[in-house]
Amino acid sequence: MRVITEWPASARAWERCRQSLAGGVSTGLRAQMRPHPIFFSHGQGSSITDVDGNTYVDYVLGWGPLILGHSHPGVVAAVGAQLPQGQTFGSGHLAEYAVAEQVCAAIPGVERVLWSNTGTEAVQVALRLARAVTGRWKFLKFEGHYHGWSDQVLVSYQAVEEGRPKLTSRGQNPSALDDVLVAPWNDAEQVAALLRDRDVAAVICEPVLCNSGVIPPADGFLARLREVCDETGTILVFDEVITGFRLAYGGAVERYAVRPDLVVLGKAIAGGFPLSAVGGRADIVDQVTEGVVHAGTFNGNPIVLAAASATLGELRRDGVYDVLEKRAATLADGFAASLRGHGVAAAVHHVGPVVQCSPGVVRVGSLADFLAADWEFYDALSVELLRRGVFVLPRGRWYLSTAHDDRDVADTLAAFDAAVEAVVRDRD
Ligand SMILES: Cc1ncc(COP(=O)(O)O)c(C=O)c1O
Repeated sequence: MRVITEWPASARAWERCRQSLAGGVSTGLRAQMRPHPIFFSHGQGSSITDVDGNTYVDYVLGWGPLILGHSHPGVVAAVGAQLPQGQTFGSGHLAEYAVAEQVCAAIPGVERVLWSNTGTEAVQVALRLARAVTGRWKFLKFEGHYHGWSDQVLVSYQAVEEGRPKLTSRGQNPSALDDVLVAPWNDAEQVAALLRDRDVAAVICEPVLCNSGVIPPADGFLARLREVCDETGTILVFDEVITGFRLAYGGAVERYAVRPDLVVLGKAIAGGFPLSAVGGRADIVDQVTEGVVHAGTFNGNPIVLAAASATLGELRRDGVYDVLEKRAATLADGFAASLRGHGVAAAVHHVGPVVQCSPGVVRVGSLADFLAADWEFYDALSVELLRRGVFVLPRGRWYLSTAHDDRDVADTLAAFDAAVEAVVRDRD
């Protein structure tokens, strides 16, 4: 197996980039990548090639959007056909409703859709709709859940103080803490207690806590959330920016058979293009016709909607999600066996095509378990994987696309075993 020892062109680009681009990265999270952000020239299917000419099996997938892999021919053709027809019209066009109809058909309970560009924006409009329809200001989120980087939701994400909301960023307005309540994930009774005063507009959650350990909802937990929201007149929002069109065609709503009032979509919906959406009950979403402001120059432009239409067409095919699930299980089982074989304690599991590998702990059932994992070991592992042609996210999460095949999985498992061996050897 070839082992890469240096990335000279990437290192030069990283050096140069930091002189003009703040921090050298276009989004802060990418600065965590080890040994430093790698610079890429192109991607095709499940593989991605860096500026030094190395090719990797890609499990980063643009941090989630590339559910069909890089440059899927159907997406490329759809966008290519639209490009000479215009980029944005600033008025209506037919794909706006055609793709909205696809989303309504995909997700149970979605009667109406709003288009926007990023998950952060869509979360903002979902909370605004919930506040407008309830006349309440507070909202409840869960510790460790990520809903974008706006002041109001960037609370109790990576660092938490038990029971008390905690700001995440310097420069974040402390007034963000005035309107937010936080609860531990999977603690339904604490949610019920916090909603008792009937002054909370919305409960928002990642229905599977993908951003902090891929922690699924406990049995019956989402149904219990639905119940307490109904009892207290609170709007239930599923932030499906990661899970939407990924855990199933109808996302977590389909997989767990619980209907929220609003769903936030992003990432996978447009197969790599910047599109997000809020979908849900018509009486709530239609508040935009009654004074709730929802705006955006690029909302619903024909390029991203062409990409979305092609992506959803591919994902609707029979058996797509079964194959993703099967390959994720093979990867997770292989990772667990390899780590066990090298005497490394680890928790490995997957929910649909999202795999989580957390060394140093035996189970990740809570945010505390996730934070307690041995992330130094994982950082070292991710560098050894990179050296062996496998590109992964920090903090243990792996995304699979429909472009990954059995060969990719087999190559990855071989590289993984060699990488674990190298890290263990270096530590001894
Ligand atoms: C669950 C969740 N919600 C919202 C967001 C924000 O989306 P965006 O980065 O498109 O603003 C993310 C981004 O990773 C996310 O994972």
